[in-house]
Amino acid sequence: MKKILITGGAGFIGSHVITRFVKKYPDYQVFNLDKLTYAGNLENLKDIEGHSNYHFIKGDIVDDAFVSQIFEQYQFDGVIHLAAESHVDRSILSPNEFIFTNIVGTVNLLNAARKIWDDAFKEKLFYHISTDEVYGSLGETGLFIETTAYDPRSPYSASKASSDHIVRAYFHTYKLPVVLSNCSNNYGPFQFPEKLIPLAINNIKHMKQIPIYGKGENVRDWLYVEDHANAIDLIFHQGITGETYNIGGNNEWQNIELIRMLCEIMDAKLDREPGTSAELITFVKDRAGHDLRYAIDSSKIQDQLGWSPSLDFKLGLEKTVDWYLGHEQWMDHLTSGEYLNYYNKQYGKR
Ligand code: NAD
Ligand code: DAU
Repeated sequence: MKKILITGGAGFIGSHVITRFVKKYPDYQVFNLDKLTYAGNLENLKDIEGHSNYHFIKGDIVDDAFVSQIFEQYQFDGVIHLAAESHVDRSILSPNEFIFTNIVGTVNLLNAARKIWDDAFKEKLFYHISTDEVYGSLGETGLFIETTAYDPRSPYSASKASSDHIVRAYFHTYKLPVVLSNCSNNYGPFQFPEKLIPLAINNIKHMKQIPIYGKGENVRDWLYVEDHANAIDLIFHQGITGETYNIGGNNEWQNIELIRMLCEIMDAKLDREPGTSAELITFVKDRAGHDLRYAIDSSKIQDQLGWSPSLDFKLGLEKTVDWYLGHEQWMDHLTSGEYLNYYNKQYGKR
């Protein structure tokens, strides 16, 4: 029987990973360590909260004594580390939390794993989840491959890059069994509405302006979150120790094109005249240091582990819109309180 620690399991991607592991691997004991920051939400885990192989631990990965104590207590065999401060705009407003959680928190987990595994590394694994943003910004052509030089440009991506380097240093120095993956932009159910797609869905629904940074020409490579969870499952079980895998949707969109498609989908779903939602599009001040384009070459994971993205983007967006429109209460809980303070600070009162 394996004991797996998943950090950040109450967040967007983490909740999909936890749900998948709890249901698919009844022999595993799955522990979810989460601080429940503004981005952590136990409502995301309603589906599995009563399962006997699921355990929730509330705590902060920055607290090294606490982290070390839970590793001693539960003797985890594997770690899938997703906990992070994850929003670029928040990292621009206030970087320090990103340094603590994303860098110091990762080091605390590495130290605790190293201590309890004590060089007996057989069947142990520390899997670090990272992002394509560590590679920096692309021009109009080219793709990020696993060996692309790091060039992070926001406090968020710099903190993730730093943690990636430290994870690799523990592999080279201490032989700690690690694996890493760097993924492109995810979308789907349970994403916090500070990120472009759920923010736009919520604003369109309420006939509020859709803020588009700059000219909307920045390009992202979008992947449905379940496809990412599937890749994480494959890498955790079949990935080669010490290796890095890039994960992407092969699905590049300029922000403005994406939002126009979303507006069309929502006009149809909400029985609005075609063109109604697109009138909400509002160009606003650009994000500081806004990376122009991210795009991933995922041929390594496709060739070596047989993974591929499963969902057509339009269908994925429709499925996502249906989910948000069908989960009004989930959205209403999140968009009161702290969210309003953040929204007004970031976008001004509209
Ligand atoms: P999220 O912000 O939705 O969730 C983060 C979770 O981590 C929350 O549940 C939060 O409570 C928890 N957390 C934050 N600080 C913590 C701390 N100090 N101690 C314990 N728990 C803490 O993030 P997400 O979008 O689900 O991203 C998860 C991971 O995947 C991150 O490491 C992120 O860098 C990476 N990633 C995200 C994307 C994306 O498009 N969202 C793409 C590639 C990689
Ligand atoms: O590439 C992976 C990364 O994708 C993850 O590591 C991050 O955790 C995740 O937040 C995401 O980062 P982005 O900055 O690309 O995602 P975001 O949804 O914030 O923005 C997507 C694009 O939309 C980006 O070009 C900025 C733009 N944007 C965003 C917001 C919130 C707008 O034009 N208006 C907005 O209001």
